[in-house]
Amino acid sequence: MSEFFRPNIARMRGYVPGEQPQEEGYIKLNTNENPYPPSPLALERLRTALDDRLRLYPDPNAHALRHKLAEVFTINPDQIIVGNGSDELLNIIIRSFAGEDDKIVYPNPTYGYYKPLIEIQGAEAVPVDFPDNYALPPNLAVPGARITFLANPNGPSGTHIPYREVAALCQRIDGVLVVDEAYVDFSAGGCIPLIDKYPNTIILRTMSKSFSLAGMRIGFAFAAAEIVSGMWKVKDHYNLNRLSLVAAEAALEDIDTMRCNAARICLTRERLCKRLTELGFFVWDSQANFVLARLGEDLAGYAAATLHRQLKERRILVRYFDDPPRLSNCLRISIGTDAEIDTLLTALEELISI
Ligand SMILES: Cc1ncc(COP(=O)(O)O)c(C=O)c1O
Repeated sequence: MSEFFRPNIARMRGYVPGEQPQEEGYIKLNTNENPYPPSPLALERLRTALDDRLRLYPDPNAHALRHKLAEVFTINPDQIIVGNGSDELLNIIIRSFAGEDDKIVYPNPTYGYYKPLIEIQGAEAVPVDFPDNYALPPNLAVPGARITFLANPNGPSGTHIPYREVAALCQRIDGVLVVDEAYVDFSAGGCIPLIDKYPNTIILRTMSKSFSLAGMRIGFAFAAAEIVSGMWKVKDHYNLNRLSLVAAEAALEDIDTMRCNAARICLTRERLCKRLTELGFFVWDSQANFVLARLGEDLAGYAAATLHRQLKERRILVRYFDDPPRLSNCLRISIGTDAEIDTLLTALEELISI
């Protein structure tokens, strides 16, 4: 590594996202994308937005989108800030609330991007282990923390912490609580009402999962107006491009398409969980568009790393984590269409010769 880098950058490993194959023909069950197309209205509006208006900058205040979000989620536009994916909002949050050596807490294992973002800022990452059932860790409220992240539902376990427990956590922690609800539309419900009760709470949402718009990079943060106005100072002024704004507004106008796709995914998830359990996997109770499955005792002769490779040879991608040890011998499988999940199950049945 060149000597010119800051020591924390030189030291860090960097985030490795799930594989995006360069060839066609894979069944992609590795990065929690939605297998169904986005809203037809969004696609239509995008086509009509492709003209010479692209020479103009987008609206830096995302005025129309924030008003639409306010209507859909019954909050005020000044409680909303939008980002180039929720990843950008995570970045803005860290830069807004934590400086060098400040503590940033998250339960572990969780979304793998929190740690590199914390390291880039030179803050101190404080992981607190989840118990094996992924219930809320009792010691998550760390004295002096500037930020606590809680992905809910959690990745990669898919497990969900009930509203009342998150509400109690807001009152116990120092600093801000970020409830990262990337997968909330596949769950029993989210925590938006907390922003009116607790001024230290930020709710994060994304259009990458339930809205099938991962390629457009659209995220939202909801919080008290005072929190949002501070974060506004940190964001890039033109962070959401013109086309993303158009797609996001249309997708919200046609929110039923998202709800219908999410409902289909939940049904497929239940079927996948049932069959994986019959095959000898332990599957955590998921409220997301993926499941985490560990090879159980009945599958003692097999290894998740090998299954991952053998599935890839059959052009089926799932996620395997060789780190941390907590995820050893596990596969994380995104929910595809029914046909894709049938192909996966048939392949697994052959590989473990059941
Ligand atoms: C928990 C969690 N938060 C945030 C993100 C980032 O989503 P986006 O595509 O909006 O940047 C992901 C993506 O996988 C995620 O799993």
